[in-house]
Order: sequence, then structure tokens, then C-alpha cells
Amino acid sequence: MEDIKEIYLKDYKQPSFKIVSVDLVFELFEEFVWVTNSMKIEKLDLDETTLSLDSIDLELEELWLNDLRLKEPRYNIKDEKLEILNVPSLFSIKIKNKIYPTKNTELEGLYKSGDIFCTQNEPEGFRTITPYLDRPDVMSIFTTTIIADKTKYPILLSNGNKQESCLLEDGRHSVTWFDPFAKSSYLFAVVAGDLGSISDSFTTFSNRKIELNIYCDLGNEDRCYHAMKSLKEAMVWDEEKYGREYDLDIYNIVAVDSFNMGAMENKGLNIFNSHYVLADTNTATDDNFMGIQSVIAHEYFHNWTGNRITCRDWFQLTLKEGLTVFRDQCFSADLNSKDVQRIKDVKSLRERQFVEDASPTSHPIQPKSYISMNNFYTATVYEKGAEVIRMLYTILGEEKFRKATDLYFAKFDSQAVTIKEFLWAMGEASGIDLSYFKNWYHKKGTPVLELKQEYNDGILRVKCRLSDELYVPLKVGIIEQDGTNIKDELLIIDELEKEFVFEGLKSEPILSINRDFSAPIIVKQEKENFDFLMKYDNNSFNRYEATQEYAIQTINAIMEDKEVDENFIEAYGYLLDLKVDNSFKALLLELPSLVSVIQDTKDIDMQKVCDAQDRLALKIAITYKSKLLSLYNSLDFMSISSRALKNRVLMILSPLDTNEIVELAQKQYNSSKTMTEKIVALSVLEDMECVDSSEYLRDFYQEYSSNSLVMSKYFVLIASSSRKGVLQRVLELEEDKVFDMKVPNLVRALIGSFSRNFRYFYAKDGSGFKYLAKKIIEIDKINAQIASGLCGAFKMMQRVDDLSKEMMRKELECIISTHSLSKNSFEIISKILDNK
Ligand code: ARG
Ligand code: ZN
Repeated sequence: MEDIKEIYLKDYKQPSFKIVSVDLVFELFEEFVWVTNSMKIEKLDLDETTLSLDSIDLELEELWLNDLRLKEPRYNIKDEKLEILNVPSLFSIKIKNKIYPTKNTELEGLYKSGDIFCTQNEPEGFRTITPYLDRPDVMSIFTTTIIADKTKYPILLSNGNKQESCLLEDGRHSVTWFDPFAKSSYLFAVVAGDLGSISDSFTTFSNRKIELNIYCDLGNEDRCYHAMKSLKEAMVWDEEKYGREYDLDIYNIVAVDSFNMGAMENKGLNIFNSHYVLADTNTATDDNFMGIQSVIAHEYFHNWTGNRITCRDWFQLTLKEGLTVFRDQCFSADLNSKDVQRIKDVKSLRERQFVEDASPTSHPIQPKSYISMNNFYTATVYEKGAEVIRMLYTILGEEKFRKATDLYFAKFDSQAVTIKEFLWAMGEASGIDLSYFKNWYHKKGTPVLELKQEYNDGILRVKCRLSDELYVPLKVGIIEQDGTNIKDELLIIDELEKEFVFEGLKSEPILSINRDFSAPIIVKQEKENFDFLMKYDNNSFNRYEATQEYAIQTINAIMEDKEVDENFIEAYGYLLDLKVDNSFKALLLELPSLVSVIQDTKDIDMQKVCDAQDRLALKIAITYKSKLLSLYNSLDFMSISSRALKNRVLMILSPLDTNEIVELAQKQYNSSKTMTEKIVALSVLEDMECVDSSEYLRDFYQEYSSNSLVMSKYFVLIASSSRKGVLQRVLELEEDKVFDMKVPNLVRALIGSFSRNFRYFYAKDGSGFKYLAKKIIEIDKINAQIASGLCGAFKMMQRVDDLSKEMMRKELECIISTHSLSKNSFEIISKILDNK
């Protein structure tokens, strides 16, 4: 085990030194890299005599203070620090050290993805490159020179604008970049490689012309156009909606295959997982296209919410991430469908964040402590953080919210600030007292709102009781019994208990609560009217909600050996006939995912839940077979929305498991013109037992085995299959030449998907748990971030049946006793085990 140290927000201290400027030189060779770091430093705390730089595995070559070469004991290297003693008040430091990017499998700091040198420094990767005050509240001006072989690495990139380049001897060349904006070290980036690219330009509202480039592996250039289009859309949107203009003369994006997360907003040089850049209709699905649009925008929006104004410390992470996710969600809603976007965002919040909040790793959007900061790039910090910003938007209204963000940008530009400053701007610009609202930043767990209603003589009293002291904006619709939607109101709940009165009603109305998911809470209502709301609610989101809730109730009843609720089946049939947008309809018809079904359940028997869900799905397919078939046949694959619905209908039909459906799927596969149709047809074939899918799987594999992004889909498909023998097939695929344990996308696709395939991960013989534990131990030595991500599959432990619980505990104990386990995995597993 590494040294386990817990970091606390309450221990925050201002930096004692300021780095006025930093000049970096990278000399790249195949086996190693020389880094020379020259800093001008100013003492802020005059009583401090020691400069303590963050540094990991330092291989020091030279150290200079002003013109003096230092020898021990003027400095020492210990506990991930380089300490330099007796420093004056204004001085320069020069450090030359050696690093080994080729051996770096953690993919943090400077590493190689295939033949490309690239970096990932958020949150604390920079200290693995060179000793530094590696904390976001130290902002400096960077100049970066990269020197490398010109043939192998013709493209050399860093942050900011290109300053000069020159040819050197031995076929090497050198390029220097200068970034005029002060930035934190986590935003530093370099890239070197033989890259293909596409270029374009954008003229800002003050008429400045910006050069835009997207770099990728040679041969993939044609797959970058959608990303470029998305970038320009994001630039226009941020000008119009937030008055934000891009600031450098150049905006570079680089796509790499080995990347721990989605993407990174490095100043002027975003580095992306190629999954969020490369797409064409033959290899990417419609969802992939949407994902690219939103992540490209997300990283672009960070230029203001993150880079120009950054976080004082990592406990403030939601300051930039919650706000930026909110901004990218609104962007996607504006460019596509508002209703569909909202449903998708809430669905993902429920399936990932609610689950996290109900688990031992639950934390507030502003955590109070951490062992590994990498473990806190969570759905809570990001997605719940975005919901908290959305509530502010709802409370303030569009106009005041804009006034508040304008004030925030004007007042805190080029600073590293906290959530307090952001809330100050929100309160100051709107005149609204947000002191009670602050609690959202400190409470963990999903709040519950209980509602009771009383009706008498045209008067309705709604009694609200909250589980936590929180300020909740609750959008409520009032619907008359004949289905007329008569009111849509915003109620503010700013006390634990609050009563609202509605007068002048004809008869007892039906309430549509938390419309558009105005607050990230669980609502418990005494009277539920799901079937009524499925039919009459004119709020699309709540109509979807009612369907999901009713389906969950129905599945739970099946688990208690009850017959399938006919009333639900009837209401579902009503949805089939609805005249609504096809994309929305595709979502309406989708049965809730397993994680949402078990949201409220304890002592879960996974096999039983899977069986119950299957029974409901089969009943729907049998009942509506002819309607579904004619719907399927009436649709084409010409638009995103018709593809979404046509695919959905095929999936709804698949539990029938008959030759008739097999033929539809085969025909869809064989005549498919887009990956969107193809991959769904293939997965439907895979999940129907009456057909041997291997011929189709082989065909797919042969066609795409050279494209690692498509092969990820193939791995997902097999690891998520409902056919028997999944684990065996996963084991075989691990040996496939396409698979590589060092590439995060592939690990997540194969092993991550398996851990979410509940029927087989929760196999009664414990084989699923055993397999995952073994892989976690193996991967932890390669890439701790990816390993600790996989540990998350065990966080349901406290809520499953005793037998599974015991088997899971045994595996976790085995992992935690592994020699030199990373602090990342240790933090997650110890939390799960401690939570008795
Ligand atoms: N800031 C990046 C983004 O949201 C993500 C960085 C994630 N870092 C990590 N260590 N997981 O776009
Ligand atoms: Zn982000």
C-alpha cells in the first residue's frame, strides 16, 4: 500500500509562493524525455524559508537557484516533495529531470497513446512531469518548447499561440508555444506525433479570426468533421447565451485512443478520447454523434468556466464541472430536442448519481475530504452539481441568471475562486437571499419529498415535508379529472414543512409533481395516478416519469409473484398510439433499467429482478405484437428520430424470440446503411435464443476489427448479452488480438460492461465477483484510475441478498489485502467494506 493520507477542505492554506512565469523545455526521445523547468518565483509569505514543490518519482539531473547549482543538503527529495531550503524573496529556479512516458501506463502526466506523446494533468498529473506548486490556485504564464525528431514527430503542440519553430541538427526540430493567459498547471498540455488534421476558422463577435484544428491518427481525418461542426456551434452558442468570446488566436483539439476519461479542457489544446471526436455514419451511432457534440461543447465552455476562472482547490471541483455540465446540457437541448435532452439527462442522473448517493461512496457535491482526488470526478460532482446550477437558473429566471453569470465573469476573471464567490454573484445580481440554498453543496444522499393532498369544496391543500433542510424549487402542474391541464406553477419549499393552497377548483385535481425534474429529489406521493398522467400530462418529462414509475411498480409486484398489472399494459398501449415526436416516443416506450427498478429495494435477488423485468417485457411484446409490427414497418431509417423509434420497436419485439422477429433483425442488419441500425440489429440477434448469432458476430468482427472504437461496441454487446456463457466469452475476448488491457476504452467496454450485466455478474456461484476482483487486482498495477472505476461495481453490496453480500465481501477483502494496492482502489473498497 502507498502512504494513505486523507486531505481535508478545512486544512486549506493559501500558497506561500507565486510562480510569476514558467519556461519549459521538453527534449523527446524514444526511451525517455528531458524536462527543463525554469521558474521565476516570488515569496508571498515572508516567514516561509523553504520552497516545497510537488514531485513524484523525481529523477533529478540538475537544480539551480538563481546562478547557483544546488547540492544536498540545500535541497532534499522526500514524501512526493522537492524541498529547497533558504530561498530569498524573489528568485529563479531551474530544474532538469528525466521522465519515461513510454513506461507510463497510468495515463497521467506525460505518456504515449500509440505513437503519440500526450498529457493528462488534471488534477495532479503535472507533478509527475516536473516539480511544481501543483495546485489550481497557483496560476502562471507558460512558455513551452518541444524538441523532437522531425520525421517521427512533425506535429509539436502546446497551449497558447505558436511563437517560433526551427530546424535543428540530426533531423530534429523545435517549436515554442506561448500562452499569455495565466493558468493552473492542471491545464498544461503537450502533444507530439505524426498526426493528420482538418482545419477551419471562426470569426468571433468582435471580428477576431480564430484558427481551428482537429488532429487525429493519420487516415481518420474524414471522421473529424462532425466534431469541427460541433465546435463552431459551441462557439456561437457561448457568444449568444453567455456573451463569452474565445480569447486565443488558435484552438487545437487532439484525439487519442488511450485516455482515462472523456476529454480535457487544456488551454487552447484540448485532448480528447477519440471516442468523443471520431465519427461517420458507418462506424458511429446517432448517440455517438450527440455525445461528440456535447463533449466538444463541454470542453469549449470550460475556457470560461474553468480556465479563465478556475477552482481555488479541488474541493471546489463542482464550481467548474457542475456549471459546465449545465451549460453543455442547455446547449444540447437548444440544438436538438429540449424534452428528449431533459429525459436523457435525468435518466443518466438516476442510473449513475442516485445509485452513487445510495451507496457507501455517497458524498456532497462539495466533498469534505478525499484520499485520491481522481475518485471524485463523479456523477455527483458533475451531474448533481449541474442540477444544483439548474435549480439556481429556475429560481432566478433566465434574465437574472445571465446578469449573475456576467457579474461572475467580470468580477473573478483570471482568479482561482470558490463556490462562495459563485453564489455571491448569483445572490448579488438577483437580490435573492441564497443562504439557505447553500446546503445543497454540503448534503449527501438524495433528498425525499413527501406529499399529502387534501381536497374540500374547491380547495386543495398540498402538504410538503422534506427529509433535509434544503431550498427546493418545485414545478407543479394541476390537471382536472377530464385531463385538462389548468395550471403550471413554481412552488418554493424553503422549510422542512410547507403547505400550499389552490382555490377555485371544479373537482379534486390530479397533481403532476416536479415537472421537468426541477429538483434532484425523490418524490413520494400518497396518491399516485401514474396511468392518468401517462395519458394526460402535457409535460413531456412527467409523462415519461409516470410511465417509468408505473413500470417499476409493476415489475416490483411481479417479483412478489403477482400477475402482470393489466392496467399498466393498457396504459402502455395508449403510448403506442400517441402522436408525438418519434425520438420522444422511443424513450417513452423504453422499460426502466434494472438499476432504476431496484432503487428502493433491499436484499435484492438479482436473478429475480431480471426475471421479473423479462416477464413484463414479454407480456408487452405478446400483447402488442401486431401493433408493434405495423409500427416497425411504417418507419424508415432516414432520420435520427425514426431510427431511434424503429430500433426501439425491434427491441421491444425481441423477447418474442421467434423466427419472424429474427428475420426482421437479419434484414435490418443486412440492409443497414448506418451503424445505428446495424448495432441494434446485431444485439437483438444476440439476445434471441432461437437463432445462432455467431455468423452475424463473425461478419461484424471481420468488417470492423481494425477499428478500435467499433470493436468497443462489439465488446459491449457480448459482455452485456443475456445468453448463457457470457463470462466464458468475455474470457476468450480478453485473449483476442484486438483487446488490450492498457487501453481504457477496451477495458471499460469488455470488463466494465460485464460488471453491469447483472444476471451474470451476480451469478449464484460467485464466478462474476471472482472474475472482476481478479481483473481489478491485475489492472490496478497498470492503471489505478481504471481499476478504482471498476471497484464501483461492488458498491451495491449492502443492498443485495446475504449470499451475494458474503461472496462480494470475500472478494473485496482479497483485493484490499493485495500488496501495493493503489490509494485509488483502496479508498473505494475501504468505504464499501466499512459501511456495515
Ligand atoms: N476536466 C475534465 C472534464 O470534465 C475531466 C478531467 C477528469 N480527470 C480525472 N482525473 N478523472 O472535461
Ligand atoms: Zn468538465
